[in-house]
Amino acid sequence: MNGIAYVNGKFVSLDEAYVHVEDRGHQFGDGVYEVVYAFNGVPFGLEEHMNRFFNSMAMIRINPSYTKEEVTALIQEALKRSGFEHAQIYYHMTRGTSKRSHPFPGNDVPGNLVITVRQAVPLADELGEKGVVAHLVEDIRWGRCNIKSLNLLPNVLAKQEALDRGAFEAILCKDGYITEGSVSNCFIVANGKVQTHQADNRILPGITRMHVIQLCHELGIEVREIPFTPQELYEAEEAFFTGSGIEVLPIIRVDEHVINQGRVGPISAQLRKAYKKLIADRCNVGE
Ligand code: PDD
Repeated sequence: MNGIAYVNGKFVSLDEAYVHVEDRGHQFGDGVYEVVYAFNGVPFGLEEHMNRFFNSMAMIRINPSYTKEEVTALIQEALKRSGFEHAQIYYHMTRGTSKRSHPFPGNDVPGNLVITVRQAVPLADELGEKGVVAHLVEDIRWGRCNIKSLNLLPNVLAKQEALDRGAFEAILCKDGYITEGSVSNCFIVANGKVQTHQADNRILPGITRMHVIQLCHELGIEVREIPFTPQELYEAEEAFFTGSGIEVLPIIRVDEHVINQGRVGPISAQLRKAYKKLIADRCNVGE
């Protein structure tokens, strides 16, 4: 089985899941989404993702046709039906189905909730242990990147450009400062301190980012939430990405600029390990 979907109010096999052609998500990208990973059959950080999901909906004035508790219960049910222990859970809410026209449809049009659950493909350990290569791309996105919107074309183009250059991920740069990755947040270590762009409308406030900052506080590592330039990135002691699927992923080179002599630095390695432990503890892995 490829996986399970919840669509049009029903659970179906992923292969049989379809939406209406006039769904506004399909025609306008008019919706918001989340991606959560489950370990040992337990979704990690679901409450945090759910809070961000409802905040995203509020920011684009989608009237949720479900409560947080209802969406959470549907996700748990879809995960159970899938039978997957290590799963990727995707969910989105669009502004509903109506005749194609830019203004919002009337209040009688409910939002469309779609959930998909598929088996997660674990990232090769080698990538986390040896680090990855990144490619710098101009950040051409809109001014509300804090909303987890379905409009991902600039992210898709940036990611593909990075892959075409033989890199693993793109690092986005706007007005001379690094914002984040195409599907991740981006950190450096400078003078022993961890640094990342502040959570404003230029970046997505990553759930992994939040956990990693919390871990830094617990481990006594100083964190500065201020932007850094490409030059600061190239000269950093260490650099890493964070994201639900990639966890903490060290960066050892950005284009031709080698970081930490091409080796994973101690703080990145420590945070990667601490983050894995947090997942294991919260999801009862190994019990
Ligand atoms: N993306 N920044 C961007 C632009 C992202 O798309 C993502 C995640 C993140 C990391 O967020 P989190 O730690 O909450 O996963 C940061 C998901 C995984 C995606 O689009 O597939």
